[in-house]
Amino acid sequence: MVPPTGAQRRVLITGAAGQLGRALAEEFPGAVSLGHADWDVTFPAPQLEPPPGLVLHAAAWTDVDGAEDDPQGAAAANVGGTRHAAEIGAPIVYYSTDYVFDGRKGEPYVESDAPNPLSAYGRTKLHGEGAAGEQAWVVRSSGLYGPTGTNFVRTMLRLGRDREEVAVVDDQRTSPTYVGHLAAATRELLERPYGVWHLASEGDCTWVEFAEAIFEEAGLDTRVRRISSEELGRRARRPAYSVLRSEKDAPALPHWREGLRALLARLP
Ligand SMILES: NC(=O)c1ccc[n+]([C@@H]2O[C@H](COP(=O)([O-])OP(=O)(O)OC[C@H]3O[C@@H](n4cnc5c(N)ncnc54)[C@H](OP(=O)(O)O)[C@@H]3O)[C@@H](O)[C@H]2O)c1
Repeated sequence: MVPPTGAQRRVLITGAAGQLGRALAEEFPGAVSLGHADWDVTFPAPQLEPPPGLVLHAAAWTDVDGAEDDPQGAAAANVGGTRHAAEIGAPIVYYSTDYVFDGRKGEPYVESDAPNPLSAYGRTKLHGEGAAGEQAWVVRSSGLYGPTGTNFVRTMLRLGRDREEVAVVDDQRTSPTYVGHLAAATRELLERPYGVWHLASEGDCTWVEFAEAIFEEAGLDTRVRRISSEELGRRARRPAYSVLRSEKDAPALPHWREGLRALLARLP
């Protein structure tokens, strides 16, 4: 069953102050946008009149390393919060992650590949997929960045302006995705059936290649020093390879370099 779409359907955005939440609010003008302070999703949803006809659930615990120290806190937001969002009773778009995979496949992951998360964060996001219920589009994406918040592009631009060299991991390959492109693809996805969908940028790169592209596009001559994930020593393990592709007719997103240019065009 493909549920109706259209202007008359009231849209609710959770996590509306996050980087994806803001992009969704731009893509769905007129939506009711609730930030963390408006609705902490670890509690049941507030009464909304009229009730929403679609929930774009962008609220999540996204501190990947922090989830290793507090897996229950992460689960409360990512699993319990998603259950609460589904209990509203409207169709829901749940945003999941490439970190549900272990990276051992070594070639692009499609929707039917078996997940095997390496981190507490990845496990909570995977369980959240189940908590989204039957009326759900489960959207797996990767390496999100936008004009606000903490993300790789903004971090590289900040460091690149201050330093001659930055150290970046060279052993993780993914498809960094611009939130504006993911928000636009979300709108297209509403015409497709419920289920798991992989929506990530075209192309793929290592974080080193992405950093080099950022400096090139931004006109910075900062050098990139290659390091391993082990050298970086973060608490959570990340997949070495987490490129997402669709084996279904998922909406296509532009190449990651186009996403990077679209973001840089928006930054001061
Ligand atoms: N970032 C990535 O690279 C990436 C990759 C793949 C998938 N995703 C998924 O995409 C979605 C959006 O991610 P994002 O990058 O936009 O993350 P984000 O910028 O961290 O936004 C998440 C928002 O959720 C809010 N939030 C956290 N706990 C909450 C709670 N208990 N109740 C209500 N709101 C809460 C946060 O508010 P506070 O800041 O106040 O905590 C934040 O505004 C998430 O589901 C994430 O798992 C992200």
